[in-house]
Amino acid sequence: MDKLRITGGQKLHGNITISGAKNAALPILCASLLTADDIQLHNVPRLRDIDTACKLLAQLGVTAQVDGENITLNAGQITSLEAPYELVKTMRASILVLGPLLARFGEARVSLPGGCAIGQRPVDQHIKGLRAMGATIELEHGFVVAKAKRLKGASIRTDMVTVTGTENLLMAAALAEGETILENAAQEPEIVDLAELLIKMGARISGHGTERIVIQGVEKLHGATHSIIPDRIETGTFLCAVGATGGELMLHNTAATTMQSTLDKLRKSGIDIECGDNWIRGRMTQRPQAVSFSTAEHPGFPTDMQAQLMALNCMANGTAVIVENIFENRFMHVQELIRLGAKIETEGHTAHVKGVNQLFGARVMATDLRASASLVIAGLAAQGDTIIDRIYHLDRGYDRMENKLAAVGAHIERLRQESL
Ligand code: UD1
Repeated sequence: MDKLRITGGQKLHGNITISGAKNAALPILCASLLTADDIQLHNVPRLRDIDTACKLLAQLGVTAQVDGENITLNAGQITSLEAPYELVKTMRASILVLGPLLARFGEARVSLPGGCAIGQRPVDQHIKGLRAMGATIELEHGFVVAKAKRLKGASIRTDMVTVTGTENLLMAAALAEGETILENAAQEPEIVDLAELLIKMGARISGHGTERIVIQGVEKLHGATHSIIPDRIETGTFLCAVGATGGELMLHNTAATTMQSTLDKLRKSGIDIECGDNWIRGRMTQRPQAVSFSTAEHPGFPTDMQAQLMALNCMANGTAVIVENIFENRFMHVQELIRLGAKIETEGHTAHVKGVNQLFGARVMATDLRASASLVIAGLAAQGDTIIDRIYHLDRGYDRMENKLAAVGAHIERLRQESL
């Protein structure tokens, strides 16, 4: 397994181009199942999760032509309606094939994702919504087995706000008979991006980006071309990095309008942030100030930025109180940050972070995707060498992160398995 070695203490200066959003690209790749025509995608990030999604789609019979950040998919010749355990277990978002397969082919078998490092994460709401649209759904031998002649529009209120749940139901409703109303829908920019692709494919959707989405089902969808929105979590991660090290980063191909709550908190930490149409400049000339925050559904502060902003708080002036409201077990980075000298105490969903003057390099282990990013941020600011093990988590969701950081002055290198 590859590791990262970071020699901390270098200020970051320069330009970084932000990649397309992982969490927009994954549902959009799955939306290709809704039509027999070509779906041409641009600005697709190069990530392990994207490779996994392409493997899963290939298993179903979808062809994919990949040319760097451009992918053309065609689901004209589907050969299987089953998403196997081996792929679903490595990526929970595989559940996103359920809605499209069921809506277009009347049947789907998707392995249950099972438990996951950051909490229980069940898919009961996906199932509840599809049942309301007339599907019969059984759980058999660890698979969700869904059948429906043609889904029928329904009024669905999920018990909690769920991002992939909203996406699954949105895709299913696009091909259902009649009107579907999704209440308590997720409002994330990635949902809006998916809806915009579906509209280009001929779907009739309104209200996306609000908590009430209305879909008039159509009989058939057609091909489309779409460019994935920029990754707001990658953008926020680099801003935390410059906040931790000091310096100035110019982030290109990003969208400040999708991440106001993150930018508000980062400004409070002392980062001087300036935004344009498709760029954000972050400049840090002081020790960070502690900033307290609670995670919430969009437009609140994203749980996917919690670990990174916690890392910044570890070296801040003052004490921050951090409340994680979305996932029950998302503080696994705490123990690793403590290895670097951080002072953190947790109690249930709350962490108290008392900033220290200096973190010190150590060997640490990545436990999940965003936890890995928090260790990179802490390592960049720490004195001495930090070695991060299990960075396959990082590769799932960050597009060549160490290259982007090295180009702006970080001392960071990948230690390949064979060189260890
Ligand atoms: C998505 C994101 C992930 C992000 C999360 C919250 C993708 C591919 N992943 O994950 O990066 O951290 O949103 O912003 O977009 N829940 C249920 N039953 C369900 C569905 C969800 O109880 O059927 C619960 C979950 O356990 C969790 C909460 O609802 O506590 C929110 O989960 P959800 O929004 O569904 O997360 P994901 O879509 O899996």
